[in-house]
Amino acid sequence: MHIGQYELPNRLFAAPMAGVTDRPFRQLCRRLGAGYAVSEMVTSRKDLWTSLKTSRRANHDGESAPIAVQIAGTDAAMMAEAAAFNIDRGAQIIDINMGCPAKKVCNKWAGSALMQDEPLALQIIEAVVAVCVRCGVPVTLKMRTGWRVERRNAVQIARAAESAGVAMVAVHGRTRDQGYKGEAEYDTIAEVKSRLRIPVVANGDIDSPRKAAEVLARTGADAIMVGRAAQGRPWIFGDIAHFLATGCERPQPAVRQVKRWLVEHLHDHYGLYGEFAGVRTARKHIGWAVRDLPGGEAFRARMNALDDCEAQLHAVGRWFDELGESRERVPAFAAGCEAIGEDNALEAILEEA
Ligand SMILES: Cc1cc2nc3c(=O)[nH]c(=O)nc-3n(C[C@H](O)[C@H](O)[C@H](O)COP(=O)(O)O)c2cc1C
Repeated sequence: MHIGQYELPNRLFAAPMAGVTDRPFRQLCRRLGAGYAVSEMVTSRKDLWTSLKTSRRANHDGESAPIAVQIAGTDAAMMAEAAAFNIDRGAQIIDINMGCPAKKVCNKWAGSALMQDEPLALQIIEAVVAVCVRCGVPVTLKMRTGWRVERRNAVQIARAAESAGVAMVAVHGRTRDQGYKGEAEYDTIAEVKSRLRIPVVANGDIDSPRKAAEVLARTGADAIMVGRAAQGRPWIFGDIAHFLATGCERPQPAVRQVKRWLVEHLHDHYGLYGEFAGVRTARKHIGWAVRDLPGGEAFRARMNALDDCEAQLHAVGRWFDELGESRERVPAFAAGCEAIGEDNALEAILEEA
């Protein structure tokens, strides 16, 4: 699997998720089996580039190549500038977000709303490619299957993007108006794949190794991208890799191993965010990690009241140690992705200053 000149170790991608796939989480996913992880979205609004949040999003310290940064916006010139800004800060691949359904983004005519205006979408793609080509940086595109169920235009946009020089497209199998409702549909992704020469990545509702194998077979895609199912279970990438290689599911990890990964992740997380923001933003990761475990809900509520790193780490450590006394391994993931978060996370980005 290649994106431009970059050869990836496998075809398992961590999906960009604003407020989730920051540098520590991306590194964790890659360590546990993802071959590629796209950063959270960076706005094309210049006035926000100096904000603390944006600079954390553009933090790639210690991240392994290729470093991929997603940009979002509505204006071709601003998007080109955003691409250049991120390349200066270490981006080796630029991903254009045409998949985001958040109201704020769509009112401002960005994200998946761009799919409604094909000429504007193409103008943005061409402007970004023009800047990136000069620096030898491949451009990728993330989109939905269309704007509305009656207007599934992913194939047209993907073909135009390929002609404009885009190196890969990822498609989430829902239209914008579907939000997260219903089930992802893979026929449109299969059609996109059949009409393009560049790599196509299938995304949407992949929550188990079997589902990953099914989606790969059904769409013929070159790779798959996993979002929500990796929240709290970043080892899903390793599970999928094992299943694709052997046809067998491997056992779920030991409780003590999950504790070790989580504690390492928390240290890295506090390092990026500092104590105040770090403790608060870590709560969601801890909440996802304990979600399916016995007593997890009660622990989540208790843990949310702690507001320093040491107390949070100590509580997590103790809770997992106690759990480890009664069971060796964490249970398999209860199927289904939680349809939460994307709108809020993205709207928060656009409101930040
Ligand atoms: C909390 C959250 C934040 C997201 N942020 C982004 C984003 O910044 N850019 C983007 O292209 N997609 C974003 N997405 C969409 C995911 O990348 C993915 O396309 C979607 O969740 C479907 O995949 P899944 O079923 O594996 O979760 C977000 C999704 C969630 C749940």
